[in-house]
Amino acid sequence: MNVADRGRALEALDRLGAPVVALGSLNADLTVTTQRLPGPGETVVGSDLRILPGGKSANQAATAALLGVPTVMIGAVGRDGNGQLLLESLALKGVDTRHVYEREVATGTAMITVDGAAENTIVISPGANATLTPADVVDKAQVIAEAGALGLCLEVSLETVTAAARCAHEAGVPVVLNVSPARQLSPELLELTDVLIVNQHELSLVSGQSVDTADLEQVAKAFMATGVKRGVLTLGGAGSLIYEEGRLEWVAAFKVNPVDTTGAGDSFMGTLLSALAAGVSLADGATLAAAVAACSTTKVGAQASYASADEVREFLK
Ligand code: RIB
Repeated sequence: MNVADRGRALEALDRLGAPVVALGSLNADLTVTTQRLPGPGETVVGSDLRILPGGKSANQAATAALLGVPTVMIGAVGRDGNGQLLLESLALKGVDTRHVYEREVATGTAMITVDGAAENTIVISPGANATLTPADVVDKAQVIAEAGALGLCLEVSLETVTAAARCAHEAGVPVVLNVSPARQLSPELLELTDVLIVNQHELSLVSGQSVDTADLEQVAKAFMATGVKRGVLTLGGAGSLIYEEGRLEWVAAFKVNPVDTTGAGDSFMGTLLSALAAGVSLADGATLAAAVAACSTTKVGAQASYASADEVREFLK
């Protein structure tokens, strides 16, 4: 990232403030670090277990709130200790959690192993996330209608995600969809989506086309095949490709020494969501998102690693 990019990111950060809604998952992240990830059938010894706040949508909400954006979380937790931990930790970051349902099932969990090279494996047990229904979402239509942008991911049912996208679309609220964990999308959901956030594998699945990230023409064609007008292809440490009006623009990543990449994609998405709600361009939003995501990789955990607006400002100086 050069000086101009840092300036661009700072300007975008100063413009944040329009409200956002993140709708979807909240998980307790049962996290262990280990020197290397076990192969199939293998046992390795790890660190003490940590129970950290996570879930892709809750992570997006936490990012936005820490950046000073008025943020509402819509989702479901169980009436248990993990549920309380998640609600309290989001509330501490400034997220409005009044629209999170409490259900008589276990809170969603994620079993996460992080290795010495900052790579991870994650297995999710959806728990209460699976109880969030289209009817729950329709009950929150007014909350969605008041947002500057709605953030969605695929850790709740596709029917629920589609119902939320429909509510937002009807109210003229931009829908930002992160296709993670990767799943095929219905033509209706694609039509309701304003901005698609994908990695290479997700773009390939959604477009039905093979995607070689070195072949820009192929990337543009794949985005075109989805029918969504704007999108971001995330490339991890290699930055991201912005797709708009049939054209692609590359946004660089920030160089850091990562210790844990868990939740970095969610912090990217939460930042971009906040930027789009505030009317910031996709490229400037992605530049800021790259900075926020880079900061998040320097600490262990998802929400536990996220930086405040002041810390991001310091990082960008
Ligand atoms: O993207 C990281 C997140 O994925 C973790 O917080 C975990 O809960 C899973 O949802």
